[in-house]
Parts: sequence; C-alpha cells; structure tokens
Amino acid sequence: MAATHATHVREPLPQFPRDFVWGVSTSAHQIEGAVDERGPSVWDAFTALPGRVKDGTTAAVACDHYHRYREDVALIRELGVGAYRFSVSWPRVLPSGAGQVSTSGLDFYDRLVDELCAAGVSPVPTLFHWDTPLALADEGGWLRRDTAERFAEYAAVVAARIGDRAKKWITLNEPAEHTLLGHALGQHAPGEQLMFDALPVAHHQLVAHGLAVRALRAAGIADIGIANSHGPTWPASPSAEDTQAADFYDVLLNRLFSDPLILGRYPDGIAELMPGGDIEADLKVIAEPVDWYGINFYQPTKVGAPLPATATTATEFGGITLPPELPFAPREIEGRPMTDFGWPVVPESLTELLTGFRDRYGDRLPPLVITENGCSYEGIDDERRIDYLDGHLRALHRALEAGVDVRGYFVWSLMDNFEWAEGYRQRFGLVHVDYATLQRTPKASYAWLREALRAQRT
Ligand code: FCB
Repeated sequence: MAATHATHVREPLPQFPRDFVWGVSTSAHQIEGAVDERGPSVWDAFTALPGRVKDGTTAAVACDHYHRYREDVALIRELGVGAYRFSVSWPRVLPSGAGQVSTSGLDFYDRLVDELCAAGVSPVPTLFHWDTPLALADEGGWLRRDTAERFAEYAAVVAARIGDRAKKWITLNEPAEHTLLGHALGQHAPGEQLMFDALPVAHHQLVAHGLAVRALRAAGIADIGIANSHGPTWPASPSAEDTQAADFYDVLLNRLFSDPLILGRYPDGIAELMPGGDIEADLKVIAEPVDWYGINFYQPTKVGAPLPATATTATEFGGITLPPELPFAPREIEGRPMTDFGWPVVPESLTELLTGFRDRYGDRLPPLVITENGCSYEGIDDERRIDYLDGHLRALHRALEAGVDVRGYFVWSLMDNFEWAEGYRQRFGLVHVDYATLQRTPKASYAWLREALRAQRT
C-alpha cells in the first residue's frame, strides 16, 4: 500500500525561481535489467566475481525498467517533476563499444524519450554512468585515450537518434568515483587496484567529456553539462599535517575534475602524474565550454593525516575500505544523524559547497545544477528522507539567496535500485521496489515532494 502523507507538519519550502528545473535521477545499470538484450559491460563481469557485491546480487533484472518504463514514466509524471535524468547504456547501443549499432538498443531509448515527452517530462540523458562496454575494457578501457574517441562516436550515435527531443544532456557521471572506486581501489568495476597509477583514467574520461561536448554540439545540442561528485573537505584539526592531508583529498575528489573543466588546468603537481602525450592540447579539449555544470552532492568529508597503524577507524569510510598507506585518513563527523549507508547528514554543507564554488571560480563558473542528492533509508514511511531532502533544499535556497546561480535540482533516486557494490541493501528511492515482485510503491517522501512541488507552482 502506498504511503500517503508525512506524519509531521513542516514549514513550506521557500519559493524557488519559476524556471528552476526539478527532476529525479536514475542510471541504466542500476535499474534497467534486461542484460541479455544488450552487450556486456564491466559491471556484468565484476558482479559475476564472487564477493564483489556485498549481498551477492547482480543487476541482471534490477528494477526491470527496460520492460516497465511506462509505469516508471507514469510515476515521474505523477510526482510533478519537469525533468528525468536517466543514463544511456553504452553497450546497449553499441554492444562491442564501437562499430555495429544495435537498432533495438536505440529503439528502447527512443520509446522512453517519446513516453517522457508525452508525459510532459523533459528527458535528460547521461551518456556514461560507469557501464563501460566490456569489449573496450578488455582492450585497456579508460587507461587508453582511444576509449575517449570511441565515446565521442557513441555520443554522436545517440544524439542522432534522440537529440531531436532530448534537449539537455550530460556527458559523464562522476568520473571521480569511477577513477577512485573502479580503478584505484578496486571496489567498483572494473575492479582495478592501481592506486595513483589510476590517474590516466581521470584524464581520459575528462578528454572523453570534451570530445563528446564537441560531438553533441555538432549534432545541434545546445544545453550540455557534466555530473561531478563534489563535497566540502574539512581538515580534522587546524594542524599543518591535517590541513595538508585535507587539501590533498580535496584535490583528488574535487579540484582534479573541476579545475581542468572550468579553468583549463590541473591543480599543482597533477599534470606531471598524467599519461604522456600532449596534455596541454588535451586540456583545451577538456575545457570546451559547457552550458552548465552538474554537482552530485551527498556529504562533506572530514580528513586528517594518516593515523597510527593500530587505529581501525581510518579504513572504513561510508562503505568504502581505504588502504592505510594513503597520505590522508578520513575521520568521523560526529554529532550528526547518519543515513543507513553511514553517511553523515549535514545539509548546510551544501550551501558551503555552492558558495565555495562561486568564490573559487568567480566569473568562470557556469550555471550550476544539482544533478544528484538523496539518501539511503529503509522503509516506506521514510520521514528521515523527507528531513534530508527538506534540509538540503533549504540549504540550496540559501545558496541562491547568496547569489549562486543554481538552475535545477534532481533527487537521487526515483526508485530503489542496484546500489553498486552494496547490491540492493541501500535504498535511495522515492519509490520502493519489491525485488521479488518488482512492485513499485511510492514512499512518504514521494508524496511529500509532490506536494512541495505543487506548492512551488501556485
Ligand atoms: C552516486 C552515483 C549513483 C548512486 C549514488 C548513491 O555516487 O552516481 O549512481 O550510486 O551515488
């Protein structure tokens, strides 16, 4: 049975600008299922290995969105958001990553886009949300610059098919996580543990972004962004060691991506670590101007100098295990509620992040869009999700009042889905999914958001 209302009364949200874009987000691998109807990706290979996904599951069926997209689009329409951010599965469109195009794969996105348009919801495709075609990965994947070229070709194929109806596009999702978790630490696909030798993966994704921006523009798309994960990094103490450690972490998570994209240069000391070749020429490609810059925000991070080897708290970090030899170590943020994922809830740090971006990049900063924000909680009467979203929307509004140009906000996620190495254990959805029956049930947070958006329109 659907949860219908929130149990305690809240102040209405402040008024957002009339043309503010409201949306929900998902990604292909996490919801589509229908693995046999596409080429294999690195995530299929990774989840087949024992022990890689904590609950031993795979995304072979997931939410079966591939077959149930009509029902899902109806849920989006009923929610009253104007936009839907989904990702296109590269191996569904090009089963080997390049060459032969799958007509049935493209047909699926064509139908989805038609359904969204008929529902009055703007489609916002993301071209890459971590599901690299296995054939390309087997040839070296993101460690090779060639993959960036293939990505641009794929971008052109998708744009030629749905670019007439999809106006707002995202090239990549979170190249930082894909580099760090997938290639440095090995906790996501493709499971490589290259530590700092994974940096070329960041560079090649950024080049792929720039080449794709050019390919999309050539196809007549004029509203292009990228979705990067960012969060404030707090030093554990004012000591020089902790400040230095926090700065280093800030470079890896934030500035390694935002500086080249916005300023056309890498933070000090990074360019030297990148692969050979003409990095200066690549930086020109990377800094190809975008129409807006997307931020996925979940939490701030407190970081200090490495702890003595006996300390155990340093390694377990929001579901991720960090090796002790890193030059920084996370610290717990105390006195805050935690999501079921163990992530601290600190809404005002979103204001800090956004004003910080404005202060750092000034006139160079494109308009911002929050392309993901949300939380993992069990339950259909999810008051704590409402608290989370309400708090973050107020924090976002404070950034608007402070003059930061933010144009939209997308909740992660429309519905519960396959949460990568966590499997189905973490539930981020506004809509509950029963994985045995695939039944969708809107949660209390869905009803709350629908009412909040209705109030924005009156
Ligand atoms: C982000 C990912 C998204 C989802 C959320 C919880 O890092 O982009 O796919 O897993 O976290």
